[in-house]
Amino acid sequence: MKKFGHFIGVTILVVALTAVFGLGLQGAMQGGYLMPTLASRQGVWIDWLFGYHLWAIAFLFSLILGFMLYSIFVFRQKKGEEKDGAHFEGNTSLEVMWTVAPLMAVVFFAYLGGKSYAAVTAENPNAMRVNVTGRQWSWSFDYPEYGITSDVLVLPANHQVLLRLRAVDVIHSFWVPEFRVKQDLLPGGEVRDLRVTPTLIGDYKVRCAELCGQRHALMEADVRVVSAAEFEIWVQQKIAEDPCKIDDVVGCGKKLAQDNGCLACHSLDGTKIIGPSWQGLYGKTESFTDGTTAVVDDAYIIESIRNPAAKIVEGFQNQMPANAGEKLSDEQLQNVIEFIKSLK
Ligand code: CUA
Repeated sequence: MKKFGHFIGVTILVVALTAVFGLGLQGAMQGGYLMPTLASRQGVWIDWLFGYHLWAIAFLFSLILGFMLYSIFVFRQKKGEEKDGAHFEGNTSLEVMWTVAPLMAVVFFAYLGGKSYAAVTAENPNAMRVNVTGRQWSWSFDYPEYGITSDVLVLPANHQVLLRLRAVDVIHSFWVPEFRVKQDLLPGGEVRDLRVTPTLIGDYKVRCAELCGQRHALMEADVRVVSAAEFEIWVQQKIAEDPCKIDDVVGCGKKLAQDNGCLACHSLDGTKIIGPSWQGLYGKTESFTDGTTAVVDDAYIIESIRNPAAKIVEGFQNQMPANAGEKLSDEQLQNVIEFIKSLK
């Protein structure tokens, strides 16, 4: 009978602790202390799943803490007690219980996981397609339905977008914390899909969530979720302003440099990043690691992009993306050269 009393006592303690920690964690979650603001439909499911996990975490923590506290206070050594406690060995029903209960918990969470995974990957046939390219260390976004490329990801609210992700060099990972969902980008031509339905108008950031080298921490891009009408305006502006369509050679070169990620490693203001700065580059005499020198002209720039290993500027390493030379046509390359020339 006394044993039963202890059991009731410790159960009450564990339940009370679970309520305290569970409600505390749920409050922290809703208050935005555990996760940033929720801004996608898919994220609702992630947070729903997270809510269950927080209760499981609160319970397991309380189970250990409850038994520990109860033992410390109720079974502490009393005055005059010198002998060891009674020895007992094994308890079949207890062992069955602590095997079956976790098994059921795992199966239950597998069910919740399957249910939320299905909801998060649910396809909307009207989804807008955006091709996302990740590279060391920048992002670019292609809208094939509109023929535009951008270094900012602009999305209409409440419309599903199908992001088709690929990396050109190493593994990167597309992550907007407010959208909750995350997907790796793989090199080697393999395309991975991620579906997001943004629900909250606002400004966010894509971060790279896979350690990808020196400037991994700086591999970010702006995300803007706007109304459908504003999105239309942005698209029209983007098309009208495209310098490559209005014969603005320098502007087009700059756009190509942005869209292809050149500016992640080459600064425009003289700062040394990964590669030589483009400011004042044209016409300058460069010294190379093999002891030779050359004046920067069209031929030198073309060689440096098409075959980056040919000449390595002193103080730098060849870190040009492997396929940098194949991405630009001769005409596009000429635009980039004109842009570099303009950076006095
Ligand atoms: Cu790309 Cu980290």
